[in-house]
Amino acid sequence: MCGIVGYIGREEAAPILLYGLSRLEYRGYDSAGISVYNNGCLNTVKAVGKLQNLIDLTDSGKNVPGCVGIGHTRWATHGQPSDINSHPHVSASGKISVVHNGIIENYLELKEMLISEGVQFKSETDTEVVSQLIDYYYNGDLMDAVSRALAKLEGSYALVIISSEQPDVIIAARKDAPLIVAYGDGCNYIASDVAAVLKYTRQVSYLEDDEIAVVKADSVTVYNEYGKPIDKAVTTVEWDIEDAQKGGYPHFMIKEIHEQPKVIRNTISAHIKDGRVDLSDTILSEEFCRDIRRICIIGCGSANHVGVVGRYLLEKYTRIPTEAVLASEFRYSEPIVDEHSLIIVISQSGETADTIAAMREAKRLGAKTLAIVNVVGSTIAKEADCVLYTLAGPEIAVATTKAYSAQLAVMYLVTIAIADKLGRLDAAEHDEIVRELCLLPEKVEHILADKEKLQQYASQYFNNESIFFIGRNLDYAISLEGSLKLKEISYIHSEAYAGGELKHGTISLIEPKTLVIAVATYEKLFDKLMSNVKEVTARGANVLCVAQQHNSGSATDAVNNAFFIPDTHEMLTPSLAAIPLQLFAYYVALSRGCDIDKPRNLAKSVTVE
Ligand code: F6R
Repeated sequence: MCGIVGYIGREEAAPILLYGLSRLEYRGYDSAGISVYNNGCLNTVKAVGKLQNLIDLTDSGKNVPGCVGIGHTRWATHGQPSDINSHPHVSASGKISVVHNGIIENYLELKEMLISEGVQFKSETDTEVVSQLIDYYYNGDLMDAVSRALAKLEGSYALVIISSEQPDVIIAARKDAPLIVAYGDGCNYIASDVAAVLKYTRQVSYLEDDEIAVVKADSVTVYNEYGKPIDKAVTTVEWDIEDAQKGGYPHFMIKEIHEQPKVIRNTISAHIKDGRVDLSDTILSEEFCRDIRRICIIGCGSANHVGVVGRYLLEKYTRIPTEAVLASEFRYSEPIVDEHSLIIVISQSGETADTIAAMREAKRLGAKTLAIVNVVGSTIAKEADCVLYTLAGPEIAVATTKAYSAQLAVMYLVTIAIADKLGRLDAAEHDEIVRELCLLPEKVEHILADKEKLQQYASQYFNNESIFFIGRNLDYAISLEGSLKLKEISYIHSEAYAGGELKHGTISLIEPKTLVIAVATYEKLFDKLMSNVKEVTARGANVLCVAQQHNSGSATDAVNNAFFIPDTHEMLTPSLAAIPLQLFAYYVALSRGCDIDKPRNLAKSVTVE
């Protein structure tokens, strides 16, 4: 979603802002803009569409001189993508310029008040209200005006503000939307995401809700919600700028697909000690596990699909009733959770608005929360009772692949740890699963080496109008993910069904040549799924089957095309079955000429409800 960058120092600000915005493009946006202070004025330039339009319009920033500035990529919520609605928003007097991520819920009320005071508005946005309100309160002290305006705002915001009256300072404020301050040499930065500034510095501080940062070229002062200056921890970012670049691959998505062996290995090995799964530094003590009456896994999109895998695994191995609930549904469902409930919160970004709200609701009801998060220092990571990080590194492609795989790996570890504490996993099975877990990276490599086969299947089927996925149990969970991956990047209509549900309606959609992808890696229900395959082939469907190698004989006979994954422990098949489906989606989208890394209408981090 929207991206923010700010710079104050001795260099020309505009090229730094434009570069920072280019690193935030992956988040999804539909317009971009910058404001730079020079000679007593704020010079603001905005352009709808790709960032390149703004780069061209400003001659790569050369037309906008000055050493203090803010920039923004906007993903429209209030008002269409247009130059007027793009950020930065400058107050009518021209004194205050603001960029904003989030939503100001009471903006109409504030707008009415300002209009009644004679303030004239240009845009339809909630953000313009903020610049006008700060200007309304401005009386020679920017910090005072910002504080007074913030006190009136309801909603969520990461706000960054500059003023033509006090050009030696940038003010940043955060509530429910991420914001960092980054420290340079004789200069400082503000950004919604580390990627925007990593080229210049690795030293960052993560702002907390209700904190305000006063950033000057040679100092940063952070104030808490009571207006008291506080010491902020400075963190060194560990990952490299190369991790956020394509490294010779044509798209981030295919690069990230290929990073999965490493990501799975790193994530697993962080929690295996002396051959045993060790989560002793989390809340999962034996006493705690014995007290759990219910587990709820919350997340959105692919994170929810990891939750569906987790639901099957946790119920099977721990016998604790478990549900996977969409965060957007959980938060308004009056959930029945209490101090005997464990809530597993899954999120790559750690900033998904619905997931944050669902987690807060669970905490309010007394439940304990364990988060599986990729982005260090994100809101979910900070607020959960404990965090297990997925060590996927920065994920740039909008469609998740490597973070999803890392989440699956953590889900296995959590399942094994709880089952172990409850005495439900005998030593031999524990050791067998751990042995197979450690072999997963190698087996994923093996699948990746066979990717041409999926490219060939994709070239056969990329013109289909509709593609169905079927599976049972864990294979159903993987079908959900395979279908989402395909539809989000190729724009082909696709649905996933539990194999047994076909006869209850969906089979009427099967026509001669409809492609059905049958995920048949769950050994216990392999024969059942093959019966579903027969039902659709009898109606003329083409079937592409994904199965384990040892079933290649029976699977090949029943279908048009097949892809075989290496055999593994039955708990772990999702990690292997997901890879061919990611590759198939990628190659279909490639054949259709889609914008793979930035699919239309989607944002990487969904920070609004
Ligand atoms: C799909 C995808 C999304 C995210 C969802 C949750 O490829 O990436 O469905 O999984 O928006 O995002 P996070 O994990 O950041 O909470």
